[in-house]
Amino acid sequence: MSAPEPILSVKGLRCTIAGQQVVEDVSFDVPATGITAVLGRNGVGKTSTLRGILGLIHRRGDVRLAGERIDGLATHRIVRRGVGYVPEDREVFSQLTVAENLALAERQKNPRRDLVAHLFPDLVARRDQRAGTLSGGQQQMVSVARALMNDNRLLLVDEPTKGLAPKIVAEVADALAAASKTVPILLVEQNLEVVRRLADDAVVIAGGRVVHTGRAREILDDEELTRRLLGVHAEPAAPRPSEPAA
Ligand SMILES: Nc1ncnc2c1ncn2[C@@H]1O[C@H](COP(=O)(O)OP(=O)(O)OP(=O)(O)O)[C@@H](O)[C@H]1O
Ligand SMILES: [Mg+2]
Repeated sequence: MSAPEPILSVKGLRCTIAGQQVVEDVSFDVPATGITAVLGRNGVGKTSTLRGILGLIHRRGDVRLAGERIDGLATHRIVRRGVGYVPEDREVFSQLTVAENLALAERQKNPRRDLVAHLFPDLVARRDQRAGTLSGGQQQMVSVARALMNDNRLLLVDEPTKGLAPKIVAEVADALAAASKTVPILLVEQNLEVVRRLADDAVVIAGGRVVHTGRAREILDDEELTRRLLGVHAEPAAPRPSEPAA
């Protein structure tokens, strides 16, 4: 039996910002289900890889969404083909309400308002609150909810837990776990406990190149590898009370 086609296939991606090479040669596949983590130290090119896939920065290489080339397309066309983006700095419209932020994201005739309301009851309760007055975690929920309004084929999510308090990190992780049941996610994440909980596969980037790919847990369980490539010691996480131990 042949392996199922990846939803995203990246080969030889090179990106430049202001003439400077920030992604050297990145190749990896994203399976059509589950969460694939992009790991790596600060400044190695994780965000630039996502922005290159979306055509937000100058890029070369072969990038395919469900087998079709997208590396020559403008960003809005890539988005219309079903790629959602949750950027590193969230980019909510702070003067607009939660409901207005979500309405602006609706691209299709039947936006998935029920799904979003089901996943983010707190946002329903705060629908008339200005997004700028929300906590960082709530703003992150708005940013993820916007990407879920449309039937995307893939979500690119950049450091959703950055700067959040531990309790809120767990809530955002819960939301992403639920979202990943409906759409595959390529997730840049530095919090390795979150990676351990969410990610099926992982791609490790160093110096603008992919230096390791594999099952996320195997990478995290390799202490030497995580210390060398991620500069941290990944503590084995205790199973959450709500989850059966694997
Ligand atoms: N707007 C920019 N102008 C010039 N150089 C940039 C710009 N944005 C990023 N870079 C450089 O590109 C390289 C990759 O940055 P990128 O933001 O992709 O890394 P990252 O892995 O996402 O880092 P972080 O963990 O800090 O989010 C870095 O060396 C960075 O300094
Ligand atoms: Mg980044």
